Amino acid sequence: MKNSAIYPGSFDPLTNGHVDILERAALMFDKVIVTVAVNNKKSAVFSGEERVQLIEEAIKGKEWEERIEIEQFTGLLINFAREKKVNVLLRGVRQISDFEYEFRMALTNRRLAPEIDTIFLMPDEQLTFISATIVKEIAAWGGDLSSFVPAHVAHALRQKFS
Ligand code: PNS
Repeated sequence: MKNSAIYPGSFDPLTNGHVDILERAALMFDKVIVTVAVNNKKSAVFSGEERVQLIEEAIKGKEWEERIEIEQFTGLLINFAREKKVNVLLRGVRQISDFEYEFRMALTNRRLAPEIDTIFLMPDEQLTFISATIVKEIAAWGGDLSSFVPAHVAHALRQKFS
C-alpha cells in the first residue's frame, strides 16, 4: 500500500513520547497502522485490548485521527507488514542508546524482508527521557504521572497499581 506505514511497539502503556511520534507520522503518511505487539516476552501490565483502547482514547478528536488504525499482532512484524502490504516501519529513537538496538532490529527485519525498510523519527527533545518502563515504575510508587502520559493513561495506571 502506497504512503502507509506501520508504527509497531509494546505500548505498555502509551506515553506522551508515543503520541508525539504518532502525530509526526500522521503528518507524513496517509495511513499509519499502530501495531500493538502482544507476543512480547516482556510481561505486560495492560492486555492487548487495553493497550489498543488507551491509544484509541489518546487520538480521539485529533485532526489526524482518521489516518490512524490500531491493531494487535502476534508473531513476526514483517509477516504482519506483508499481510497489510505496507513496507515502511516507523520507530521512535529518543537517544543514541536506543539506536544500537533499533539498528539491529531494522537490519534484521530488512534481512528477513528486503522490501521492508525502517524509518526512525525523533520525538520532541522534552520527551526524550520518557519510557513506558520508567512510567510504570513511577506508577508503582504512586508518583505524579501528569507530564509523562495522557491523563486517561495515568488514570488507568493508578488503577492497575492501586
Ligand atoms: O515498544 P517495544 O517493546 O520497543 O517494541 C518492540 C517490537 C514489538 C517492535 C519488537 O519486539 C517486535 O517487532 N516484535 C515482534 C517480533 C519480531 O518481529 N521480531 C523480529 C525483529 S528483531
